[in-house]
Amino acid sequence: MSTSFTMIGGEGPDSYREHSKYQKINEAISTKLDIDFTSNLVNIADFGCSSGPNTFDAVQTIIDAVEHKYQEDTEYQVFFNDSPNNDFNTLFKTLPPTRKYFATGVPGSFFGRVLPRSSFHVGVCSYSLHFVSKVPKEIKDRDSPVWNKDIHCTGSSKEVAKLYLDQYKIDVGSFLSARAQELVPGGLLLLLGSCLPNGVQISETVVGMMIDNIGSSLNEIAKQGLIDQEKLDAFKLPIYLAHADDLKQIITDNGCYTIEVFDKISHEHGEFPLDPEYLTISFKVTVGGIVTSQFGQDAMEKTYELVKEKTQEMLPQLAKAKPGMQYLIVLRKN
Ligand SMILES: C[S@@+](CC[C@H](N)C(=O)[O-])C[C@H]1O[C@@H](n2cnc3c(N)ncnc32)[C@H](O)[C@@H]1O
Repeated sequence: MSTSFTMIGGEGPDSYREHSKYQKINEAISTKLDIDFTSNLVNIADFGCSSGPNTFDAVQTIIDAVEHKYQEDTEYQVFFNDSPNNDFNTLFKTLPPTRKYFATGVPGSFFGRVLPRSSFHVGVCSYSLHFVSKVPKEIKDRDSPVWNKDIHCTGSSKEVAKLYLDQYKIDVGSFLSARAQELVPGGLLLLLGSCLPNGVQISETVVGMMIDNIGSSLNEIAKQGLIDQEKLDAFKLPIYLAHADDLKQIITDNGCYTIEVFDKISHEHGEFPLDPEYLTISFKVTVGGIVTSQFGQDAMEKTYELVKEKTQEMLPQLAKAKPGMQYLIVLRKN
């Protein structure tokens, strides 16, 4: 899993300090967290923490809220989880010098157990749950009737979207079940990320249009002979943006949690500015890493030169895009 395959949704580095989100997390912890304080130790876990710095803000937001609620002399331990190939060195080298917590790295896929039973009190998973553990193999196979010619399910094939959704259901279900075992009774799990408003197709959003732009740019690069067309035909992004109701249903079906909050978080300045430079860089940060890992740095750079040109041409279409949705979900273990 590439660690440079970061945000889908235009979040900035100060995202957790964005007032409405901070306020909502603070409120949820203040009203819903109900933990036994006898040990005076609160364990916080960030699943899919990456190498910083957003994780530090997320953790600090949670600690501030817990301190505000309990006002006890408390010690904090933070479990930073990500895939084993995450850059944990950078994470540990850049830990905030004034932090009030002990830091622990937890390498491993969050689709399985990564912590002991009943070991954390508040967990967060931010902009990481749109990853699927694998891309359904039928859609990568050119000879399969459901082969997907695009790099993602932004086109019109319902079968391809359903295969992605089936995998997403399995993965999110596994994530929730694993966390339910690791969470203490009365503890909270906060989920932040991108999804789609009900009724909106990904192809109608800026995210979908930009992914299609990257796909068609890669195809041009393949036609120029710079990357292998067959390899590109099998290349599909391992992400899925669910519809809000599907995500809610997956959580309900899992049965381990009560949904305390399921909120749409709005962006103060709209979802994305209509600026080709900004959009190209945003989607280079988000998808460039995986393009590099498949096709090399040179092909990635050339692809994104084309992406920028196409973004300029697409501005009228992008201006009419439907907004996506950023969510904050707060779950309490049943
Ligand atoms: C978009 S980044 C989000 C980073 C950070 N949470 C934030 O909000 O900025 C997604 C992170 O999820 C991690 N990730 C994806 N799948 C994972 C998995 N199965 N297990 C653990 N981490 C995973 C990636 O390695 C990456 O670091």
